[in-house]
Amino acid sequence: MVTTETANPAAKMRTRDVSIYYGSKLAIDSVSIDIQTDFVTAFIGPSGCGKSTFLRSLNRMNDTIPSARVEGTIELDGEDIYASGMDVVQLRARVGMVFQKPNPFPKTIFENIAYGPRIHGLAEGKAELDAIVEKSLRRAGLWEEVKDRLDDSGTALSGGQQQRLCIARAIAVDPEVILMDEPCSALDPIATAKIEELIHELRGRYAIVIVTHSMQQAARVSQRTAFFHLGKMVEYGDTSQIFTTPREERTKDYITGRYG
Ligand SMILES: Nc1ncnc2c1ncn2[C@@H]1O[C@H](COP(=O)(O)OP(=O)(O)OP(=O)(O)O)[C@@H](O)[C@H]1O
Ligand SMILES: [Mg+2]
Repeated sequence: MVTTETANPAAKMRTRDVSIYYGSKLAIDSVSIDIQTDFVTAFIGPSGCGKSTFLRSLNRMNDTIPSARVEGTIELDGEDIYASGMDVVQLRARVGMVFQKPNPFPKTIFENIAYGPRIHGLAEGKAELDAIVEKSLRRAGLWEEVKDRLDDSGTALSGGQQQRLCIARAIAVDPEVILMDEPCSALDPIATAKIEELIHELRGRYAIVIVTHSMQQAARVSQRTAFFHLGKMVEYGDTSQIFTTPREERTKDYITGRYG
């Protein structure tokens, strides 16, 4: 019988045998993973196992670290992002990033969002730029809170608002993938809940990858989970399977709190 479930949609991002070194130190060891737009993918694992290192390789953020070297292939829609002709500025618009500590520009709320679309030439004139700013802030669940204070500094917002501003800033340039490295670790539970709700709403529109130390969070927001340990991706699968019936002993030890 034919099922409708067969088609594994083409991966948005695909890595093959990716190893990452800092100088001679191996931080990521031969990781191959497919990341799909339909799912939120969580990266979990103990501190120092290489989650951030691997995440940063997906939009070439590691390029800014002189000792870092990436081997293997990483593709976005089948295109090698480390190919010599790749425009890295364009790549980082297509694969946006949200960091642990909210990092709005020291500019107005409006400018935080408008900056990217302007340099990427996404708006023809003021009205269109205004529309992008509003749409991005709405999509990030921040519009109602800031619409009357767009000229205030982005840094004057609360931590949770700043993080949503950073998500709006990533959204404004029409990304295909959003990478989040522990986006809630500096936030209180209410702000965290808002970000998690936002991730739910953004799911399907963008491929989302989130690094988290909170297993509850991974279980709440993701449909796929990859468990990393000592630079290796030990196990990758349905989030529910990883948390209920992990195949690997090391995964089981981690999710039952034996280490990490
Ligand atoms: N800029 C760097 N230079 C040298 N080594 C680094 C650098 N960044 C990370 N490392 C090393 O690479 C390894 C992986 O670090 P990474 O930050 O990717 O781990 P992580 O899983 O994100 O940890 P955490 O959960 O604590 O954020 C660690 O041994 C770390 O010390
Ligand atoms: Mg990290």
